[in-house]
Amino acid sequence: MNWETRVTKLLGIQYPIIQGGLAYLAYADLAAAVSNAGGLGQITAMSLPSPQALREEIQKVRSMTAKPFGVNYAIGQHGRPFEHMLEIAIEENVPVVTMTGGNPTPIIKRLEGTSIKKLVLVAARRQAEKAEELGADAVMVVGQEGGGHLGRADIGTIVLVPQVVDAVSIPVIASGGIGDGRGLMAALSLGAEGIEMGTRFIATQECVHAHSLYKEALVKGTESDTVVIKRSLGAPARVIRNGWTGQILQLEQEGKGYEDLKEYISGSANRRYIYEGNEAEGFAWAGQVMGRIKDIPTVQELTSRMIQEAEDIRMRWSK
Ligand SMILES: Cc1cc2nc3c(=O)[nH]c(=O)nc-3n(C[C@H](O)[C@H](O)[C@H](O)COP(=O)(O)O)c2cc1C
Repeated sequence: MNWETRVTKLLGIQYPIIQGGLAYLAYADLAAAVSNAGGLGQITAMSLPSPQALREEIQKVRSMTAKPFGVNYAIGQHGRPFEHMLEIAIEENVPVVTMTGGNPTPIIKRLEGTSIKKLVLVAARRQAEKAEELGADAVMVVGQEGGGHLGRADIGTIVLVPQVVDAVSIPVIASGGIGDGRGLMAALSLGAEGIEMGTRFIATQECVHAHSLYKEALVKGTESDTVVIKRSLGAPARVIRNGWTGQILQLEQEGKGYEDLKEYISGSANRRYIYEGNEAEGFAWAGQVMGRIKDIPTVQELTSRMIQEAEDIRMRWSK
């Protein structure tokens, strides 16, 4: 079956499936596996300690796949400067750069005139329009079901995606809550020309940095086992519900500010759970789709299964 969309053509990939930037988890093994399976894998620049480490990781991806891949830049308010890290992606002439979490203007402007494709992850129609005005090649739009950072307006993927599709003329990639071939077909039905998945790719063999307890929590958990933290800080983000995130929500309810919360929501607290499996003293991002995850396949198995499911749906529809 022909899977060509404007997204597959833009990115030079076989299937319209993109692996989301995954802070502290998206390194060469996962990125190369996704690209080798026909999608677009990504590494996450700001999880790496230095520009040199990023250069080595890009080279590692290239040693593992000849296919296109992306480098993701999450540029949060409290984030560290990204300019040196961006120069590495340009010097290495990576195929794709994706960005989120802040004003994309400096990244898009710096990439103008290069062959690097520019994708912006947004969570609202206005942000998508702005990304198009700035010169983004495509937008990814994440609904409220998604794992990690979300929009402030609580709009679900099924409402947000067609709204954005109608508002911009660049291709739209649906994100948030997708984990199987049904989700892929649903996204295409909404007018998206590709999907991005985060949570589902964590529960794979090649997401080698995720501790087995994190993957098991994704398999065992239901769709009700996530909560949104950091809403009071204006940066809502979806995590696995546990005692630690209960404490965060309690502090937020008590009206505590960033200074009181920062230890709880820090990168160290995140890494304690996702690298060490220390669930009692940390947190892990995940989307509601964890309720639909039942196994920990290889990326190739997951992709083939999704494509088969989607093709079965197309066959049924065509009858
Ligand atoms: C553990 C985790 C870390 C994430 N880190 C990033 C990141 O660094 N950069 C980014 O663009 N998106 C990040 N995201 C968001 C994903 O790229 C994607 O938009 C989201 O996971 C989609 O929702 P899903 O989890 O339902 O698939 C993260 C998501 C998760 C679950």
